[in-house]
Amino acid sequence: MLAATRVTTAARGWPGAAQGTAFRLGTPDTSLFPFEEWTRIVSRLWREPPPELLRYGDPAGYAPLREAIAAHAGVARAVRCTPEQVIVVSGSQQALDLAARVLLDPDDTVVMEDPGYLGARAALSAAGARIVPCAVDAEGLDVAQARNVAARAVYVTPSHQFPLGVTMGLPRRLALLEWAAERDAWVFEDDYDSEYRYAGRPHAALQGLDADGRVIYIGTFSKVLFPALRVGYLIVPAGLSDAFVAARAIADRHPPTVDQAALAEFIERGLLARHIRRMRGLYAERQALLLELARRQLGGLLDVAPCNTGMHVAGWLPEDADDVEASRRAAQFGVDAAPLSHYRIAPGSPGALLLGYSAVAPREMAEGVARLARALAQLPVRRG
Ligand SMILES: Cc1ncc(COP(=O)(O)O)c(C=O)c1O
Repeated sequence: MLAATRVTTAARGWPGAAQGTAFRLGTPDTSLFPFEEWTRIVSRLWREPPPELLRYGDPAGYAPLREAIAAHAGVARAVRCTPEQVIVVSGSQQALDLAARVLLDPDDTVVMEDPGYLGARAALSAAGARIVPCAVDAEGLDVAQARNVAARAVYVTPSHQFPLGVTMGLPRRLALLEWAAERDAWVFEDDYDSEYRYAGRPHAALQGLDADGRVIYIGTFSKVLFPALRVGYLIVPAGLSDAFVAARAIADRHPPTVDQAALAEFIERGLLARHIRRMRGLYAERQALLLELARRQLGGLLDVAPCNTGMHVAGWLPEDADDVEASRRAAQFGVDAAPLSHYRIAPGSPGALLLGYSAVAPREMAEGVARLARALAQLPVRRG
């Protein structure tokens, strides 16, 4: 296939533009971002920028930010690494693109969660990977299903499976690492919103359990700060740092240095940890409100299930209902509610709508649920 055709085909349907008022996926509430503190840091840096911040920088990222990220990932996610293993990237998306370029050859097989994240599928397919879907059960990716697959890599979202929201427990994590060891396969661990856990203790990242150096850990500030910042990080096995740094330099030399210096200071001063704590409390309240509104107004129309992690929940439609049609009707009522089918690799059922609640204020949430109830009341049921 022509490379240009492969890339445009891989990106089809992603990223989507949201139109409605409520329930947009993956969007943090930026109204509570500590702009004052952020502005103070940024304006001081720009008023008298140290000359080294204005020269070409290190393709691996600004050293103090790499140190701050290594410390944060160690405390928050039990990731074990040195700052030299941290590579600052332009969000998870660049991390996935670099991982595919560095570690995969065209036609390599990659196992992916089904349903799964379209951004990952796009990056892997664009690199020429052959995607093998693997079902997700209550424990995450069903490793047993991938038993006979000779894969070069697997892509997983263990903290909060995207989009179903399940968390991979310890036995499944160990089974996945064993599966990868048997095949000498890479594990792409996308830990995109692991900071939002509302009940129970967080599980250690796969990276922290990996004794063989096969996990490529991917973190992002898109969910804990805001997506337009475009800062994420890769934590790679020590022996792969040079190859990833070279790939980063080839792609775009290095990330903007002053932004990195500001973020490093923001983390070092404890402002990131404070912001995460605050938003975790707020999002837990918002999920509880959404569940309560759904219980009162969406009975028989949408069964909205609680979730211990993340920024969205899944609402299950009656057995024969078509979620694409349900989402289209919701949009007509001004509500964003992504259909689960959009994320499936193999067609499947039942249908569900994914409801992002993190950026929805209480009044908007009530309005959104009322509109959703009206939209779904007339939903035809698919037969046979
Ligand atoms: C599964 C998953 N990974 C990663 C991201 C974040 O991507 P980025 O860091 O490129 O903004 C998202 C955002 O929606 C996501 O859903």
